[in-house]
Amino acid sequence: MCYAIPAKLIKILKKKKHKIGIIDYFGEERQVIIDIDDLKVGDYVYAQGGVLIRKVPTKEALEILEYWKDIFFQLKQTDEALSKVDQDKLPPNALAILQKVNLRKSLKRDEMLTLLGLTQKEELAVLNEIANNVRQQQHGNSSCIHGVIEFSNYCRNSCFYCGIRCEQNIQRYRMSVEEIIAAAKEAVEKYGFKALVLQSGEDLWYDDAMLEKIVTEVRALGILVCLSIGSRDIETYRKLYAAGARAALIRFETSNAEIFAKLRPGTNLQDRIKLIDDVRELGFVLATGFILGLPGETHEDIANNILLTKYFNPDMYTFGPLIPTQDTPLANCSQITKDLVLKATAITRFVDANSNILVTTASETLDKSLRKEALLAGANSMMINVTPAQYRNLYSIYDNKTEDSFDVAQCIKESIDLLMSLGRCPTDLGIS
Ligand code: 5AD
Repeated sequence: MCYAIPAKLIKILKKKKHKIGIIDYFGEERQVIIDIDDLKVGDYVYAQGGVLIRKVPTKEALEILEYWKDIFFQLKQTDEALSKVDQDKLPPNALAILQKVNLRKSLKRDEMLTLLGLTQKEELAVLNEIANNVRQQQHGNSSCIHGVIEFSNYCRNSCFYCGIRCEQNIQRYRMSVEEIIAAAKEAVEKYGFKALVLQSGEDLWYDDAMLEKIVTEVRALGILVCLSIGSRDIETYRKLYAAGARAALIRFETSNAEIFAKLRPGTNLQDRIKLIDDVRELGFVLATGFILGLPGETHEDIANNILLTKYFNPDMYTFGPLIPTQDTPLANCSQITKDLVLKATAITRFVDANSNILVTTASETLDKSLRKEALLAGANSMMINVTPAQYRNLYSIYDNKTEDSFDVAQCIKESIDLLMSLGRCPTDLGIS
């Protein structure tokens, strides 16, 4: 988005699947997948989600870098100061495990369970601090903000948790191909977004040709296009990759096959896992994850959810709490606590130190302060809703979805203010 720094391309490497570039932000290097032609070492570029998406004219890049040249180092200092850990406060029962984390040794399932079982305020505070420290050590102060356009709330599925499941008696909408492209254009040209997630229910009304047109035109705006369209045929994903989509967001929702089958009638976990594997195999940058706190889920399931996410080697972890939603079969379920969301965030950071972890809208809906708190417990990425105002409230996957009442400019300002107050910088996180 407008909160983005151009990088200088300093090396081009050829790898089997992709062309890889090394880019530089004021001496900090990242690896990225090169997704444009006609590029040479020394060019200035924008990278998003680990993908080099656009060249920036040198004059323009140098002007922007002039603005960042001091702020960049000031932000780093702020982040470093905020991510210090007070070793003296380490909780005794988690001490050995957290020392292991400090040594970058991977955690075993029973160690994850011990951490999930922590309840004392001071212990949780230290857990979050250490996660924040690991994030800082791995990624410096890099952070990213992506936009999301929710283009249709029609869905063929009947997921028990979801407010747009096909049985819901809600006002449905579909944006036309032209409307979607216009909304993306506005997000890019007016607000400066450089990565957009195109999200919808599983809506087969959009056939491959329509989706290809959308992706082609949105990619032509010079941004990273991320698909969040659910279980579509792998051939559809293949065509959309060819049209220029480079990222895909597909959650497996839960690693517990029984809960999956019960809550997602007519579908099964195995097929979902295969789809995610296949999408990854096509070369997409992958965001995946789960819902936290589905009924029947134990701490063991949560640990398994984190481990299954890790299995996919995703570029982004995305998980959020179940928000019980009116008129769905899970309307009367209890909601998990903010602490559990933070614990899952911190443990994810420990299990996959180099991961990128999104603060999801569901987390913010559970508790507004979770955005900041999750960023201080291992998370490093967030999303802003740029769905046109007339549709925004209709994409009601859960009740009281946050941000609905704010305008985009206000959301951007709040997000940037928050990131800056935490010393986070919009340098791309790169690929691992
Ligand atoms: N609470 C939290 N997350 C939900 N999702 C759908 N319904 C809910 C809910 N009630 C999540 C699913 C889906 C994503 C777009 O939203 O994980 O993949």
